Amino acid sequence: YVVNWDVEAAEKGGYDHFMLKEIYEQPKAIKDTISPRVTKDGKIKLDDVSLTKEDIDKFNKVYVVACGTAYHAGLISKTLIERYLNIPVVVDIASEFRYGEPLIDENTLMIVVSQSGETADTLAALKLAKEKGARVLAVTNVVGSSISREADDVLYTWAGPEIAVASTKAHTTQLVLLALVSLYMAEKKGTISKEKYDEIIKEIVELPRKAQSILDNTDLIEEITEKIYKNEHVFYIGRGMDYDVSREASLKLKEISYAHSEALPAGELKHGTLALIEDGTPVIATITQSKTYEKALSNIKEVKARGAYVIAVTQEEHKEIEKYVDSVLYIPDVIDELTSVLAVIPLQLLAYYVAVNRGCSIDKPRNLAKSVTVE
Ligand code: G6P
Repeated sequence: YVVNWDVEAAEKGGYDHFMLKEIYEQPKAIKDTISPRVTKDGKIKLDDVSLTKEDIDKFNKVYVVACGTAYHAGLISKTLIERYLNIPVVVDIASEFRYGEPLIDENTLMIVVSQSGETADTLAALKLAKEKGARVLAVTNVVGSSISREADDVLYTWAGPEIAVASTKAHTTQLVLLALVSLYMAEKKGTISKEKYDEIIKEIVELPRKAQSILDNTDLIEEITEKIYKNEHVFYIGRGMDYDVSREASLKLKEISYAHSEALPAGELKHGTLALIEDGTPVIATITQSKTYEKALSNIKEVKARGAYVIAVTQEEHKEIEKYVDSVLYIPDVIDELTSVLAVIPLQLLAYYVAVNRGCSIDKPRNLAKSVTVE
């Protein structure tokens, strides 16, 4: 009697694909990343980071450099760092940065973000920054990786091994870790009020529960997928951090479903892309930021008037949006600064189900690698 163990199926723990398993692991991954860094009395402690108040006061500029999904996490961190530390942040793609002429010196903080810690371009960017005297902080998921060894300080995302090429739990844990480090530095520098600091930490701690509530209720996502999966062109729109989320969501879709997709700042539609919107074109609008809510809503009306099939992603508090769109994917109410952590989750699932319907190789998309260790 021979038992034919299917090792891979066993590792997938009952899920059809690693990607789906990893999407569902997010509440735990986020919790594991936050828990060791937030004390019972709501203070951030980053034992793994040696940045002193003097170091932080010295920085007059921050560069965040990465590739792919990690780059999108970097984009979102820009808003938080600029808002709370009052210093300019440049977010760059590693393969661009390394051949550019970046203006960095010993007063620059360089943050590199990399799930694997082995991406060749990101590693080269790190080395270049060090040569120019910058202080390098790495956010990575792999202990002992090349990037973790080269950086001055390392913060680990505790997402656990990520197998699927399309990154999910590594991304949301990067987002929470970057939020924590921004708050940590702002508190040391004295540029954030105690009320704001306390409020955001309280909300960060709630994120695993809120992420879980999205995952407990995915029927609508599957239903919507049925309506859009045959389309060859999908557009994602948003403003500010919602635009950053759109870029990540669009990448997820194209990576695994091979549908063409683009993300646009919603206000830029009228400068070209609106010409591509016709009857039934799927437009996925992330609309979570109170500052730009009304403006983004007008952009939704613009595409709707051209016949687009509009799916909105927004907080539960914005029920009135149902009047203007075809479907709504709600996320729990959450402070504006942190919506990206939750808004990306239904969009990961949407990409996943589109790819399933299109019969694609989800965990190993054609032409792509999990870790790009050559240039
Ligand atoms: C590859 C992967 C992406 C990843 C990117 C950066 O393209 O397919 O999922 O976002 O590399 O990888 P890193 O390990 O540096 O985060």
